[in-house]
Amino acid sequence: MKICEDREALHVMVQEAVQMASKGKVADYIPALSDKDPHTLSLAVFEGDGPCVTAGDTAEMFTLQSVSKVISLALALMDNGEAGVFDKVGMEPTGDPFNSIIKLETHSPSKPLNPMINAGALAVTSMISGHSVDEKLGRLLSFIHDMTGDASISYNEKVALSEYDTADLNRSLAYFLKQHHVLNDNVEDLLELYTKQCAIEVDATSLAKIGYIIANEGRHTESSRPVMPLHIARILKTFMVTCGMYNASGEFAIKVGIPAKSGVSGAIMAAIPHGAGIGIYGPALDERGNSLAGMKLLEVLSQRYGLSIF
Ligand code: DON
Repeated sequence: MKICEDREALHVMVQEAVQMASKGKVADYIPALSDKDPHTLSLAVFEGDGPCVTAGDTAEMFTLQSVSKVISLALALMDNGEAGVFDKVGMEPTGDPFNSIIKLETHSPSKPLNPMINAGALAVTSMISGHSVDEKLGRLLSFIHDMTGDASISYNEKVALSEYDTADLNRSLAYFLKQHHVLNDNVEDLLELYTKQCAIEVDATSLAKIGYIIANEGRHTESSRPVMPLHIARILKTFMVTCGMYNASGEFAIKVGIPAKSGVSGAIMAAIPHGAGIGIYGPALDERGNSLAGMKLLEVLSQRYGLSIF
């Protein structure tokens, strides 16, 4: 059965999954995220051959945060090729929190282990081609406009500035990487670009549409036009499985089995290979930075429709 034909069940699943929110906490280390209502939950499912089906608080806009790391990786891979990117960033999960610095020091050579942790994402963002922060951000936004069909998508200035003003841990990671020649950028420019990238604001529907393209060989929904090469869509899905939910990726693979990427805003983008793209927003997080209600919702969806890839 097509998920999108099961509208009533989707509404019920959202109502049930949102109960998990009371066990979580909205991220507050980025001050501008802290005033979000923890009991919000929205779901969008896009299967390509009909409208995107939504349930819950679907009007809610939210920032991509770490979900943006998948999109910046696609662009950096198109700009630099696999050899260029993986010369600077590894392909292995860390088992550490997303903002950890420890493996940078204990591993030799000192390159980030993967593009989904903050250190790796900073290195990837520094590889986006362009002559200025504005040009690089503009390219990232155009890529998102193309994938979603929504040219009004931009970044939330308040969230970007709030993170930029408080991003001392990310600054430390960037200076460390610069010392070790993983990146050469001016660190403040890189932090400006990275925080604006993380603050790109979408709704669940846009997230589902991006997920659908990654799920379906990098091809655009209506025209089948390639938005990214097949091998890049595969790389993204693979990182989503191995590192997408940070140090909860193993448990998530067992319980849910769908390539997915979370962000501390409470966003989750999921891509079922040759199937649906799913966008979720539920800002109450567990201690590892993943949306509690969002993960529950994906678990229930996976069970009901047999979505595990394993
Ligand atoms: O760099 C940061 O800390 C945030 N902009 C993004 C982190 C994040 O979303 C981790 N996700 N679970």
